[in-house]
Amino acid sequence: MTHAILNGSLSRAKQNKQDEFYTQIKDIEQELKHYKKHFQGKVVFCNCDDPEWSNFWKYFELNFDHLGLKKLISTHYEDDKPSYKLEIIGDVTGDGKVDYKDIIKTPLKQNGDFRSPEAVEILKEADIVVTNPPFSLFREYVAQLMEYNKKFIIIGNQNAYTYKEIFTLIQQNKIWSGNKSGDMEFKVPDYYEPRATRYRQDETGQKWRSMGNICWFTNLDISKRHESLILYKQYNQEEYPKYDKYDAINVNKVSDIPIDFEGVMGVPITFIDKYNPEQFEILNCNDYRINESVPIKAHGLVKDKDSAINGKPTYARILIKKRS
Ligand SMILES: C[S@@+](CC[C@H](N)C(=O)[O-])C[C@H]1O[C@@H](n2cnc3c(N)ncnc32)[C@H](O)[C@@H]1O
Repeated sequence: MTHAILNGSLSRAKQNKQDEFYTQIKDIEQELKHYKKHFQGKVVFCNCDDPEWSNFWKYFELNFDHLGLKKLISTHYEDDKPSYKLEIIGDVTGDGKVDYKDIIKTPLKQNGDFRSPEAVEILKEADIVVTNPPFSLFREYVAQLMEYNKKFIIIGNQNAYTYKEIFTLIQQNKIWSGNKSGDMEFKVPDYYEPRATRYRQDETGQKWRSMGNICWFTNLDISKRHESLILYKQYNQEEYPKYDKYDAINVNKVSDIPIDFEGVMGVPITFIDKYNPEQFEILNCNDYRINESVPIKAHGLVKDKDSAINGKPTYARILIKKRS
């Protein structure tokens, strides 16, 4: 059923987009099991999901009672024509269980774009937004969630850690990374033309695309956020040199953060996956420039040529400090 619906409803313009890939239910289950306590009595909105195709919708439909949801809403996105929304508000058929028979389908006047006034009205009603939004609109997508003060669990790319807007929100402890990060494999539509090497077709003909730097973003509390990194390395000047332009030492691996260094350290951006705000503080690089001649960086990270040590640039780093 799903293939027919997908092929039938996609326009040519949409087919060219690389944003069409679909999250597996096992990945959704693995992440969402850590948030169970947050869902009781809540309205969940999947606003970048074809409800007849998305496993986010499926997960919440199957777990509606188990999670104690109040309402589940999903809007379907069309490029250029009016769309529809699906809702579950409980056991409307009265057959003793919540399932697909309880789905209420309502046409939309607009196309289901998450920014459309109709979708924004639904957003206002929602408590928690859960989806895998188009990565090409990620900044705008997160900005809208913040504007409407929504709780969320969404999939993104770790590159987003270095976007000025996203890094600032992470630094301010307004959003953080969820539990899993790294490789994730997504279903891609039949029309998908493989450009990347990380692509396979299985024995049933289903096409899959794997991505290596996927992570979850949330602003709901999870126990991982309270787990401290276990540190064991001792600081020494040779292994932890200072940057040329910042008053901070460089640490090449998150697991190498020295246990006995109380100053400012530059660490790989994947530190964000391990960040416990009770253990560390994330800093803005502009506050640690060695002098005024070092340019102010809007993004707040140690990056590009300004990350150099003895003239040789390192990878992007974020500055952190232990909490005392
Ligand atoms: C990465 S896919 C993920 C789909 C689904 N959430 C999942 O994880 O299986 C992003 C989805 O967002 C939809 N989309 C693209 N632009 C959108 C927009 N402006 N508003 C709402 N949805 C959009 C796409 O059609 C696509 O299905």
